[in-house]
Amino acid sequence: MSSAISPAAWVAAHLPASRSPRDAAEAYAPANIALCKYWGKREESFKLPLTGSLSISMGALGTRMRIAPAAADSLRINGADLSPRDKAFQRLFAFLDLLRPAGQAFCVDSTNTLPMAAGLASSASAFAAAVLAVEKLYGWVLDGPTRSRLARLGSGSACRSVYEGFVEWHAGIEPDGGDSFAEPVAPAWPELRVGVLTVSAAPKAVGSSEGMKRTADTSRLYRAWPEQVARDLPKIRRAVLEHDFDTLGATAEQNALAMHATMIAAWPPVLYWQPETVAALHQVHALRAGGISVYATLDAGPNVKLLHPAGDTPALLETFPAMRVIDPSAAL
Ligand code: PMV
Repeated sequence: MSSAISPAAWVAAHLPASRSPRDAAEAYAPANIALCKYWGKREESFKLPLTGSLSISMGALGTRMRIAPAAADSLRINGADLSPRDKAFQRLFAFLDLLRPAGQAFCVDSTNTLPMAAGLASSASAFAAAVLAVEKLYGWVLDGPTRSRLARLGSGSACRSVYEGFVEWHAGIEPDGGDSFAEPVAPAWPELRVGVLTVSAAPKAVGSSEGMKRTADTSRLYRAWPEQVARDLPKIRRAVLEHDFDTLGATAEQNALAMHATMIAAWPPVLYWQPETVAALHQVHALRAGGISVYATLDAGPNVKLLHPAGDTPALLETFPAMRVIDPSAAL
């Protein structure tokens, strides 16, 4: 379905009119990992998903972004200046063009508290931080759903990164995405940990947008995806609210593997897994058989994230000494 209006027209109609900037503004947004995944759009320009999704924000791991008015656009990420020819540069400023008046340039300084080398996506936290920083720069006071709708226009999953804790993104049905935004479900559990096994930190060969599109266009298994989410999303939501870790973990692992099954059945196949990815999944299953509560989830890449209770971290580190442990409830 395509919308009658453009994202730029939608933003212009929904933002406060005032655009007189302060000297500078700074904001932080966490990364997030989906427990019930977003995979596939029903509309490209507004980044509207085919299904809902549910994630956990990564607490102190995310992006801090400082934006100041300037004579020309510039972008520094983790202390290194990016060229205007860089894709990340073009993507960020194309997004900022939606929020600023024509002719207004910005100096953007972005720092990821998640190590780039961990192979965790930083685009969700970056676009969410950009929305929050521009909001402060112009002195707007936006509500959560408005922040979330704006962040979605940068990167779909960014709409979940405007909040801490467990977050649900409602798919919505409106053509301009008015009802497609995220909302908090519950605070992070203090006992929950996410272990990250970095198989590769290299940029992925197939980006998530391209991977989604190819899957939706060519994978027959993708037809089953909305049904999978219809089953998993309420189960995960309930498990979050009831602190039922095993239901949460088992449903999240099955959901992630089902998402990868739809991609592997695309043509050309979207196969993000490396041999180490599969080896880690087998180790997770062996650990579980041995009584350790650990469940795997994977995004559009080869890295494996291990959901587990804090009490099991020491045992997991024996099997995975290089595992990086994230506490989603840790404040910045
Ligand atoms: O928002 P994008 O385009 O980076 O897509 C994210 C896709 C997954 O990470 C695989 C799933 C998700 O829900 O975050």
